[in-house]
Amino acid sequence: MDENQEVRDWIEEFFSGSEKSPNLIGALLAMQKQFGYLPKVGMKALAGRLSVSPANVFAVATFYNQFRFIPPGKYPIKVCMGTACHIKQGGLVLDHFERKLGISEGEVTGDREYSLDRVACVGCCTLAPVALVGDEVIADMSPTKVDGLLLQHKIKREQDQE
Ligand code: FES
Repeated sequence: MDENQEVRDWIEEFFSGSEKSPNLIGALLAMQKQFGYLPKVGMKALAGRLSVSPANVFAVATFYNQFRFIPPGKYPIKVCMGTACHIKQGGLVLDHFERKLGISEGEVTGDREYSLDRVACVGCCTLAPVALVGDEVIADMSPTKVDGLLLQHKIKREQDQE
């Protein structure tokens, strides 16, 4: 099944499964959780379901910085920039990921392996500064740990290709 159809089917299922009519933000959050981003076709279908214009849906989605509009990389990296992580130099960690991956936050590497995003507090402040690779929480992040993590991934990817 093509991805556009998959998204449309998901919207139908999402609305048919809801007891009360979902609001726009709730539907956008659910769609991003399902697909890892907000597909254009999904936002259009959502607009139709909620009887609002696609421009309205897009305007709301772009207002909140937790929504992304391109598919995440195979290894989505999220750097926490909540207060505790920010105080403990989370910014240096984000900068270092950007330098090493050659992308800015919100972008995906050319080979679609990595995406990089900043997120608000992920709820484990005692481990700050924190990054997530997929669902795995990495504690006490530092630029050196970024190097180690990316090297470890590179070795694993090379092993997987053999
Ligand atoms: S501020 Fe980063 S986990 Fe809470």
